[in-house]
Amino acid sequence: MCGIIGVVRKSGNAAEEVFQGLLRLEYRGYDSAGMSALDGGKICTVKRGGRVSNLMPEAERLKGSTAIGHTRWATHGEPNDTNAHPHCSGKFSVVHNGIIENYRQLKEELSDGGATFASDTDSEVIVKLIDFYYKGDALKAVARAAARLQGSFALGVLCADREGIIAVKYKSPAVVGFDGNGAVLCSDIPALPASVTSVCVPEDGDIAEITAETVTFYDSKLTPVNRVRRPIFPEQFTLGQGGYPHYMIKEIHEAERTVAETCGGFFRNVDVKRLTEYVRGADRIIITGCGTAYNAGLAAKSYFTEKCGVFCQVEIASELRYSPPKVTPATLVIAVTQSGETADTIEAVSALKRAGARVVAVTNCGYSQITRVAHLVVPVCAGAEVCVAATKSYIGQLAALYLMAKLTEDLFTAQEELTLAGAGIGELLKSEANAEEIARQCAKSSAVFFLGRGLDYAVAVEASLKLKEVSYVFSDGYPAGELKHGTLALIDENTLSVVVICNPALAEKCCNAVSQIISRRGKVAVITCLADVAEKLKASAAVWLLPQCSAVLSPFVSAVALQLVAYKTAVLLGRDPDKPRNLAKSVTVE
Ligand code: F6R
Repeated sequence: MCGIIGVVRKSGNAAEEVFQGLLRLEYRGYDSAGMSALDGGKICTVKRGGRVSNLMPEAERLKGSTAIGHTRWATHGEPNDTNAHPHCSGKFSVVHNGIIENYRQLKEELSDGGATFASDTDSEVIVKLIDFYYKGDALKAVARAAARLQGSFALGVLCADREGIIAVKYKSPAVVGFDGNGAVLCSDIPALPASVTSVCVPEDGDIAEITAETVTFYDSKLTPVNRVRRPIFPEQFTLGQGGYPHYMIKEIHEAERTVAETCGGFFRNVDVKRLTEYVRGADRIIITGCGTAYNAGLAAKSYFTEKCGVFCQVEIASELRYSPPKVTPATLVIAVTQSGETADTIEAVSALKRAGARVVAVTNCGYSQITRVAHLVVPVCAGAEVCVAATKSYIGQLAALYLMAKLTEDLFTAQEELTLAGAGIGELLKSEANAEEIARQCAKSSAVFFLGRGLDYAVAVEASLKLKEVSYVFSDGYPAGELKHGTLALIDENTLSVVVICNPALAEKCCNAVSQIISRRGKVAVITCLADVAEKLKASAAVWLLPQCSAVLSPFVSAVALQLVAYKTAVLLGRDPDKPRNLAKSVTVE
């Protein structure tokens, strides 16, 4: 949800680095982009609707040792040149990630004082406020303006009267990275330049004065505060597309490795003793998250119910926060979030923590906000996920949640099982012909329905989300048993139903659903690990027989198969699978 970057250099052109940083940050939003550079006491700004590349060739002309940049996911005002950041007023230029909830009131107040506004954004009030409060001390002006803002904001501020950047963080993510040549403000650690070797993660309310020589952190009253500087290590997973045409397919191919790394990370980094106490001591488990992370929770519900025999519910975080259940210290809340920055998830679990529950975060991002909310963190070791659609991180979430559920049984067998599941993914990815065939059918269908029972239902829901978001083909995920309670009315010869059948105990009932669809002239594709089911249905449906896998671990293989289908459908239809329209990677607004 918008990416911000700021670079302050002892030597070299900061503007060039900001442009490169924006390209790395584009997964956070790609509605418009812009940058400002400070050169000899003068701020020069370039901004354009559309992708970061639209800033060229003007961006090439920007020079200076200090620069800021922004890539936008539009919340207020359509994506065009005027609404693009940075927003400028007087001696200031500002980039903003977040939402200013009281912007109407502030705009009215500033307009009454004579200020004029060029854009339809909420963000423009920030720079106007700073300009209004400026009496020669930029830091004080920024602090006074920040105190008036309600909502969420990570800001990078340039002032023509001083070198360096002033940054503010409140609820939106921001980190400050260091290398030998100065400092870099950035929304996310993975988007920092490769030269950065250590980072400080500011607290909510912090204001940072960033120069090429030093970075000083203050609280909102401008009292200096100490923020720990921690080393960061090069990614084990390489950034860049590594020869693949898109990040999405590269990241699907990293799923097997993600399972292995997540197992390794669990044994290396998790306080297993404490986590076991949490899981064993729980009389109720609430799993929460949004989108794909929620869908991982749907699968994990079966794991916790079966392995721990404890009541487990899965809640969409944006709903849970408005109807929080009664909790006790024996309630275990598991927050699943790739980015660790999803506002709805953070707000929901923060409220449950305040009410007394224990909170465990399952996340792919080590220094993220959720790690500061949770009592314990279980890492997903997927490496940076650049494609907006979650693929390998979903598989990593399944692995982490499976290990947690097995804490009441035997972790050693869990590791062996996950190694087998990983091998199943590797085997599956050797041949993509079946995915292509099903993708061709998806691409020409008016709607695609994904059906399954039990764990296969959880996979069906995730497969539907993946297909719709990257291909824009209408899709829905349904429990197979619900078909006859409504969805059947939509089945005709132009629809495709993809039925996931990986549990022998439920196979017969799913085969009935296949017959019911075929009787209504609907097309059917079957995804199964079961040879007898494949044999039985191959005459009437397109059947993809997956590598053999136990029912409980089948989601690892079947979900990857359906990620491939979504990817190939998107490519067939000429979509950009890495940057689906209207979406962004990390949803830091509510
Ligand atoms: C879908 C997708 C989203 C995210 C959701 C939660 O492919 O990526 O649905 O899963 O926005 O994001 P995190 O996991 O970062 O909390």
